[in-house]
Amino acid sequence: MTAPTTLGARPRHLLDFADWTPERLTALLDNADTMNQVLDRPVRKVPALQGLTVCTAFFENSTRTRVSFELAARRMSADVVSFAAGASSLSKGESLRDTVEVLTAYKVDAYVVRHPASGAAHLVARYSGKPVINAGDGRRAHPTQALLDAYTIRQEFGSLEGLTVAIIGDIRHSRVARSNAELLPKLGARVRLCGPATLLPADLAALPGVTLTTDPREAVRGAHAVMALRLQQERMAGGYLASLQEYADHYQVSGALLREAEAGAIVLHPGPMNRDLELSSDVADGEQSRILRQVENGQAVRMSVLYHLLVGRE
Ligand code: NCD
Repeated sequence: MTAPTTLGARPRHLLDFADWTPERLTALLDNADTMNQVLDRPVRKVPALQGLTVCTAFFENSTRTRVSFELAARRMSADVVSFAAGASSLSKGESLRDTVEVLTAYKVDAYVVRHPASGAAHLVARYSGKPVINAGDGRRAHPTQALLDAYTIRQEFGSLEGLTVAIIGDIRHSRVARSNAELLPKLGARVRLCGPATLLPADLAALPGVTLTTDPREAVRGAHAVMALRLQQERMAGGYLASLQEYADHYQVSGALLREAEAGAIVLHPGPMNRDLELSSDVADGEQSRILRQVENGQAVRMSVLYHLLVGRE
């Protein structure tokens, strides 16, 4: 019998945070520090995943997430095969299940999956029998983005414990908001979700450590980190907003709004950003912005996740 540890059973996948204990999540973030040290060396490569093949299967567009996962896998010496749905037989009608079975027949060891449908990453886990990392499924979850957000905040303040994080924007369509609302309270932070009522689903208030408000000043007051989210117009069939200008007037993360936050508060955005809509350009490029730091940290955090799921298993 193996002795129980506070880390809990090691999850086979990272689909969301349901199976992940705070201790294990903290271990993941600690390990990302080590990965950042690797990335600072003149030779940014370690043999940890040598002989393994990682497939990045993207059924939806991406810049940061796809590139950083591919680099993360390569930095650890994995072979990487990139599958882009637009250029595949999916456009000829092949099902997700058949596609995954084909890829698995080529001896892929792990999948990184982005898909417009919520739950698609779970299906890939079931069809492939291999470890799966959810790189964004519909509006449900985007766990590695939340991890890199948490890591970036922790880098600034040393710990998440007792901090307040305001997340402002299109909460309804945001898997980033959902994953952060799940993760940050597990690590000791409070989360305030804020947006116009039509973009703020009331059921999220049931999550522990999460409150909702339609008032951006109330959301930001005393916050240590302020995250702006993109208006996901591609997921809006219309009717959610009277006008973009009105949205910007009320909800834009601007210098004036930021002055309500804690002195030394940092500004985050998962990208891609619509400058001067959800976030003013001066704030995006200003001293308090950690947006490029988030991008940088994405690589180390994803290395840590791949390592955690693929190394040291029987
Ligand atoms: C986000 C996504 O795809 O969920 N982007 C990202 O991964 N960095 C947010 C968005 O698309 O607005």
